[in-house]
Amino acid sequence: MTAITESVDLDRRGRIAVLTVNNPPVNALSQHVRQGLRDGVRAANADTSVDAIVLACAGRTFIAGADISEFGKPPREPGLHEVLDLIERGPKPVVAAIHGTALGGGLEVALACHWRVAVKSARVGFPEVKLGLLPGALGTQRLPRVAGVEKALQMIVSGDPITADDALKHGVIDEIVDGDLTAAAVAFAEKVVREKSPLRKIRDLDEKVAAARGKPEIFANFRKSVARQTRGFRAPENCIKAIEAAVNLPFDEGVKRERELFVELLNSPESKAQRYFFFAEREAAKIPDVPADTPAKDIKKAGVIGAGTMGGGIAMNFANAGIPVTVVEVTKEALDRGLAVVRKNYEISASRGRFTAADVEKRMGLITGTTDWNAVKDADIVIEAVFEEMPVKKEVFARLDGIAKPDAVLATNTSTLDVNEIASATKRPESVIGTHFFSPANVMRLLENVRGAKSSKTAIATAMAVGRRIGKVPVLVGVCYGFVGNRMLHQRGLQAEKLILEGALPHQVDKVLTDFGFPMGPFAMSDLAGLDVGWRIRKGRGTKSPVADRICELGRFGQKTGGGYYTYESGDRKPIPDNEVEKIIVDVATSMGITRRPIADEEILQRLLYPMVNEGAKILEEKIAIRASDIDVIWVYGYGWPVYRGGPMFWADQIGLKSLRDRMLEWKKQSGDDFWTPAPRLARLADQGKGFLDK
Ligand code: 3HC
Ligand code: NAI
Repeated sequence: MTAITESVDLDRRGRIAVLTVNNPPVNALSQHVRQGLRDGVRAANADTSVDAIVLACAGRTFIAGADISEFGKPPREPGLHEVLDLIERGPKPVVAAIHGTALGGGLEVALACHWRVAVKSARVGFPEVKLGLLPGALGTQRLPRVAGVEKALQMIVSGDPITADDALKHGVIDEIVDGDLTAAAVAFAEKVVREKSPLRKIRDLDEKVAAARGKPEIFANFRKSVARQTRGFRAPENCIKAIEAAVNLPFDEGVKRERELFVELLNSPESKAQRYFFFAEREAAKIPDVPADTPAKDIKKAGVIGAGTMGGGIAMNFANAGIPVTVVEVTKEALDRGLAVVRKNYEISASRGRFTAADVEKRMGLITGTTDWNAVKDADIVIEAVFEEMPVKKEVFARLDGIAKPDAVLATNTSTLDVNEIASATKRPESVIGTHFFSPANVMRLLENVRGAKSSKTAIATAMAVGRRIGKVPVLVGVCYGFVGNRMLHQRGLQAEKLILEGALPHQVDKVLTDFGFPMGPFAMSDLAGLDVGWRIRKGRGTKSPVADRICELGRFGQKTGGGYYTYESGDRKPIPDNEVEKIIVDVATSMGITRRPIADEEILQRLLYPMVNEGAKILEEKIAIRASDIDVIWVYGYGWPVYRGGPMFWADQIGLKSLRDRMLEWKKQSGDDFWTPAPRLARLADQGKGFLDK
């Protein structure tokens, strides 16, 4: 075996050369990999005792793409285009041997080879769109030539990988092999040599793209079908344009067009934000004082206390991951009601084709409902989701303390209560941790894990690991009112209320945020959640929210009563602005002595989002979040912050903290309101000309 570079080896199996990439963890196409592939292919082509080449990978996967950490840095030779050209135009057959995931540049390498074999568990795809990019090494030109235009559009614009079976069906791979992959690929190469098969260069295939030529409706219809999901993103449109070029231009012209469209994306703010976010998400898994090798408890069985809105959704997460879960309720009626909702949710998913009727039964079969607390005595983790009242929570935890296994993790889904106080109801506060799910708990990806003062490293490692296992993105936060997400949301809510009194209307405020990229604005969101909940809390506490209170007094509780801040037509969730509400707003403003004025969209946006950033700065100062990027992960996965704007802290850095701070000071001067006092960390970084994310 010869080492071509630090990450590429050249080996021989008879007359077949085997080039193996070994660049852990995911064999990304770093400079030394590209160089190794180029030099290895050159050496094999020059060696007269070699008939064909197999390109394989060591470790857990085939090449998973370009090395994302190299983007934005000066390019280093050789470029991927050069390497792929060398592979495809070479005189000897090259066979890609795929296991794990051949993604992005990895799939582009495979498509430059003359044939592709894969193990059955392999998956292939172009996830570039998720980084705000397009497959920039001829993927948009080669994929439609093997898979057809419709399949290429679907794969490249969704970014989702497909299975080996699907890839075989669509001509993306040529064979699924059993047993030892390299041996099978070598056998495939020997057969190609023996049969003197002409080299299959995808660039020369025209049939599948020709089928779409002169049919612009294919693209028009596709654009329409993805318009909703792709709103605000820049990359999907460029992906489509590149595939159009594959259909309408000769191969080399198409390649040029792909390049232009790729470079445009590479330099776009959207891609910069999405690439930042890729690493932010992975960074959130790292906890400085709880290293990756901290033993986490293996969760074989879970318990959930309470089968209400959240408890049912939380139980579904476990069942979806194949983990048996026992749900405890106070009464049989509450239990039956809760489990019926779970079943209904599963049946809706099945009716939409997400899984089969048998899957519904399988998942329901993993959920056991009971009113007997002893049923959670062997659970490895118990998550409490009962009423949000401290005495109830404490009673539940005291009771759990007497029943749960000594090493079980005891978790609370509280959204506002002090996790430390809840933990104090047990004799094992080290086993207690917050697991703050977001509603609907079976859908939303964010999981804020709340570290109590005494939470053990095992409890933390377990909450993080089990969160990932059930498909969530866990972010560790500290104890404070509202934790990270809701604490920041509260600041935005305060300004939303002020803005409508000062002159804006709910639909204007909401539109500013939906134009920014949020799925919904604060008023439409309140109507969805129901205005009565907050009203009842305010009445209990003796506090007021003048406009919301007046709306509630009319029995307008939001969507469920056909009206709240907006009016809704029966069976339709579309918010319609309402004159009656406008009148209430104007009345309340007048009674408070406020002179309403037109408010520009820019001011609305800044007044809604700057206070969130400022609160984020306080959260960092108080060490409630480990790092600024964790706050961004929370906002993207928990609240629909558009990922192409990175998250509030990244976004603030792009604006420049000085400009943000100065704006706040102006408002402070105008209004005399301390609300606008910049947080010390914001002020300090602004003075230093730095951002939250600067190292
Ligand atoms: N470049 C650089 N680093 C990468 C990387 C890449 N393409 N893909 C993964 N990594 C790093 C991660 O940051 C992580 O590092 P860490 O351990 O220090 O945090 C490590 O590899 C492991 O990654 P994951 O935690 O994500 O591992 P998983 O096993 O969960 O997932 C994966 C593996 C499915 C390959 C996933 O990492 C992934 O989706 N990677 C990105 C794939 C991608 O987007 N490829 C396209 C790149 S763009 C491109 O190819 C452009 C081309 O068209 C020119
Ligand atoms: P819910 O009122 O829908 O459900 C609570 C359930 O707990 C009820 O079914 C009730 O019968 C049951 N229950 C009450 N006391 C019990 C006890 N002693 N033993 C067993 N079961 C008991 O409430 P929801 O909305 O599910 O909230 C639960 C928790 O989740 C609260 O702490 C809440 O703050 C939190 N949360 C709620 C979110 C939401 O959007 N609804 C979002 C995130 C957290």
